[in-house]
Amino acid sequence: MQIAHDRAGLAAQLAPGRRDGRRIALVPTRGNLHAGHLALVDQGRRLADVVVATVFVNPTQFGPGEDFDRYPRTFEADAEGLRGHGCDLLFAPDVEAIYPFGAERAHRVTVPALADVLCGAHRPGHFDGVATVVTRLFNLVQPTLAVFGEKDFQQLRILERMSTDLGYALAIARGPTVREADGLALSSRNRYLEPDQRRLAPMLYATLRSVRAGWRRGEGEAALAAGRARLRDAGVDLDYLEARRELDLRTSGPSECDGSRIFVAGRVGQTRLIDNLALGEDQSSD
Ligand code: PAJ
Repeated sequence: MQIAHDRAGLAAQLAPGRRDGRRIALVPTRGNLHAGHLALVDQGRRLADVVVATVFVNPTQFGPGEDFDRYPRTFEADAEGLRGHGCDLLFAPDVEAIYPFGAERAHRVTVPALADVLCGAHRPGHFDGVATVVTRLFNLVQPTLAVFGEKDFQQLRILERMSTDLGYALAIARGPTVREADGLALSSRNRYLEPDQRRLAPMLYATLRSVRAGWRRGEGEAALAAGRARLRDAGVDLDYLEARRELDLRTSGPSECDGSRIFVAGRVGQTRLIDNLALGEDQSSD
């Protein structure tokens, strides 16, 4: 596996594959890789000839008071994991390689409507930061396809729409959510959880499942209300628990299942966790 830290190194290492017309899969991450990230690398491996993973803790997507400074940085272990999964090139840029004029002075991509709801409503500017860095990665790598996880479904939808809207000639592949045995979605932030919080955290997924069962029985809003009460009673500081359409992230009608999902976000202790679950019958990531 090759490693590049700056734009020139990246361009040099991509050149031969590009010249030969090889398909390039891009897997953007913030590092501290776990099995969920590595499954995206495996997916890229299956879909393309060359897999490029990026590790970059992007300052523009963290809000004031969020965990940018203490976000776990585990470069050696990340490189090892990527090597083991057949990644060809690791792009681990420094801030200058992504933002040559500084993150504060960067041209920014502003995300319309889809960013007004769910996490966007609770983390102002977050998705602008995500879209800003991902456009730069798309421009620098010029991949044939990019792989993003359904774990961050709103992010995935925003990036799919952005890619179409801005005219990128690339495909976006969706990676199913990888979970612990007890259902907790893998996340780099899980490591912040104290043992008692870790025991509580799987309740997010358990609640998604029970709300889905109620929703499918036709209970609609009552199923969501019961789920909210259950999480709050257990001590989760809930941001939202909502049923929304995958396509436009608008609120789902009570009988809508196919093409809709339940979305949840809340803090367990100080740690903000998110998850989602498809309401339709034929979804893999449950
Ligand atoms: P990060 O949180 O590191 O996630 C990188 C990719 O891994 C995202 O596409 C995310 O959806 C996916 N992922 C995370 N946990 C997963 C899980 N349990 N199962 C499957 N996929 C999972 O998301 C970001 O970084 C950043 O916002 C980024 C897109 C890299 C821009 O900075």
